[in-house]
This record gives sequence, structure tokens and C-alpha cells, in this order.
Amino acid sequence: MGFLTQIHPANEVNERMNNNVRKIMIFIVCVAAVAAASPGCKPLSAEDEATAKKINAVKRASVSEAEWTHIFAGKEVYETYCAGCHGIKGDGKGPASAMLAVKPRNFTKALFKFISTPPGSLPSDADLHRTITRGVPRSSMPGWSLMSETDRSNVIAYIKTFSDLWLKRKPTSPLGFGSAPAWVGSARSAAIGKVMYARMGCTNCHGQSGLGDGPSAATLTDNEGQKIIPFNFREGVLKGGSRVEDIYRTFYTGLAGTPMPAYGGLLSDDENWHLVSYVIYLMGKTKVSDSDVSNYVLAAADTMRHQQTATK
Ligand code: HEC
Ligand code: HEC
Repeated sequence: MGFLTQIHPANEVNERMNNNVRKIMIFIVCVAAVAAASPGCKPLSAEDEATAKKINAVKRASVSEAEWTHIFAGKEVYETYCAGCHGIKGDGKGPASAMLAVKPRNFTKALFKFISTPPGSLPSDADLHRTITRGVPRSSMPGWSLMSETDRSNVIAYIKTFSDLWLKRKPTSPLGFGSAPAWVGSARSAAIGKVMYARMGCTNCHGQSGLGDGPSAATLTDNEGQKIIPFNFREGVLKGGSRVEDIYRTFYTGLAGTPMPAYGGLLSDDENWHLVSYVIYLMGKTKVSDSDVSNYVLAAADTMRHQQTATK
């Protein structure tokens, strides 16, 4: 998996990497699926067929005719391409899941990591579309950019039938983040971010130098009880997207179902962007030197101390 953990700033490299991962993973899924008699590569077992029918009978009663056609088309897509990992019942327990270190999402819990809606909300369709299109680096989730838009939209409708929360809750409006200020990535901003990184306790999980080796790192689990490793800023590829806006969104909303908290509301907009500056500095995506950042750190710490005293 070594090639997965390198930094690939260029989108087309990411794209190519995703395509390769997809090819490998589809192969693995099919091998696993044939072994376990799953959809996509072999017809459904009688038991799986019965489960699928039961789910459909329940959902069928609660949606309009047009919506049902949409969902039913999505079911085909899902059972062909997704169920091998995410499971026929959407519980994340497809036949391939046993051999995956990062487990496929359990859609019955309706907890999603990559959202642009307020923390604790369901994702927007655009969020699901973005993740499905790009895939999730540092996991086996392939990018489906070659899948038709219609199929992607249909499969999104189907995924939403696995939890009744989608029927109970009204869709939440996306937070509408602004674009990055010009100073994001500057040495001064990275230095302020560095001070905040320690002050906000990012070090507990991500470690002093961002290697993902903080004191709590070894003990972390996700909502399914699976061991989860904090991001290593020095060599990891970001799951939620590599643009500065994606990083901002990630720690604004947190990653639901994981120990990664939502910080957005705690900090001012500028403070959030300073943290982004420090993250991209750690990731080696800025041109600023270590000594430039160090020079600003003392000044940044000093300014913040004054601000705190002033607001007391
Ligand atoms: C090879 C296995 C595999 C296949 C095939 C696969 N996924 Fe995934 N998927 C994963 C894994 C693993 C994760 C969890 C990634 C993580 O949490 O880091 C995931 C996560 C997701 C998420 C959650 C995103 C979030 O915000 O939390 C969605 C949505 C998703 N997959 C949709 C799909 C759809 C739709 C398909 C079929 C078109 C599909 N997946 C096929 C492995 C797979
Ligand atoms: C309690 C532990 C914990 C704390 C505290 C924490 N994180 Fe995380 N963080 C995680 C875990 C675990 C992941 C990996 C989630 C995954 O792989 O799905 C993560 C992932 C990330 C990512 C990568 C997201 C991506 O797209 O892959 C970024 C960026 C990040 N954290 C930034 C921060 C910043 C900045 C802070 C402090 C303001 C912070 N984290 C505090 C646990 C933590």
C-alpha cells in the first residue's frame, strides 16, 4: 500500500491513482464475491435475495412512484459495484470487508465522514457525489469518476434507503464556506497555526510533529469499534480532498464516527485558516522554510497571549 501514502498534489495524479486502486479493488471484490456468492460477479444467494426483497417492500411503501424508479435503478448499481464491500444490507459487511483494514461504511448508521453540512447532520447529495466520484484515499473505497452521472445519482438515492433517518430528518443546508484568504500557506499564518495546533490539543492524536503518533493515537477506535489511526501529515494523502477548502471543511465539521472532533464553531474563520496553513506546511505543500515558520512562532505565541489577557 506504499504508493497510497505518498503525497500527490496534482489532481490528475490522484485521479490516476484512484483508477488504479479501483481496478485492483474491483478485482479483489470480484474474487471475494465469487467466493462468498455475492452480487456483481455471481447471482445472489436465495437468502440475500430474500433480504433484498424485504428491504424493498418496506421502502416501497414510503416513497413516490418516480422516486422509487430512481431508487430501484440505484439498487442495480449498488448490487453490482458496491455490495461486495458495503454489503447487500448496507451494513458494511460485504464479503470483501473481512480483508479490509479500513472497514467499508455501514450505511444503516447514516454516519458520514465527509460533509459540508453542520456537524451532526446528514450529508448533502453533493457531498455523497463528491466522495463517490473521488473515492477515499488511505482506504479501499475506489473513485467512481468513470461511472455515468445517472448511475451515481441513482446509487446515492439507494444508499439513503438503508437508514430511516433520511426519511425522518429534513435535509440541512450546506454551511457555505468562503474561499481561502490569500495569506493561507504563508510562514506567518503557518506559525499562528502551529501555536493553535498545540493549544487545541491536535498534538494528543496527531503528535508534536504531525506524524500521527500523539499520546492518544494508539488507543483510538471508530464508532464500529475498529482501530483508527490519526492522520500522518508528513506522508498521508487526505481522505476528504486535498484543496485547502477541503481541509478547512474537514476540521470544521469533524469526521463523524471517528475521534476526529469538529472544531469549526470553536474558532474564528481566520483561526481555522491558520490551522489549514499549518496543515499544508506539515504536508510539505508550501514553499516556506522551517526557519521562517520558527521565526514567526515566538511572535505568534506572544500576540495570542496578549489577546487572551485583553479579553479576560
Ligand atoms: C473495495 C471496497 C469498496 C467498494 C467496491 C465500494 N466502497 Fe465505498 N467505501 C469503502 C470503504 C473502505 C469506505 C470507508 C472509507 C473510510 O472511512 O476511510 C467507504 C466509504 C464510502 C462512503 C462514505 C463516505 C463518507 O462520507 O463517510 C460512501 C458514500 C461510499 N463508500 C459509497 C460507495 C458506493 C456508492 C460504491 C459503489 C459505487 C462503493 N462505495 C463501493 C470501500 C468500498
Ligand atoms: C481525539 C483525536 C484527534 C484530535 C484531537 C484531532 N484529530 Fe485530526 N484526526 C483524527 C483521526 C483518528 C483522523 C483519521 C480519520 C480517518 O482516517 O478517517 C484524523 C484526521 C485528520 C485530518 C485528515 C482528514 C483527511 O481528509 O484525511 C486532518 C487534516 C486533521 N485530522 C486535522 C486535525 C487538526 C488540525 C486537529 C486540531 C485542531 C485535529 N485533527 C485533532 C483524530 C484526531
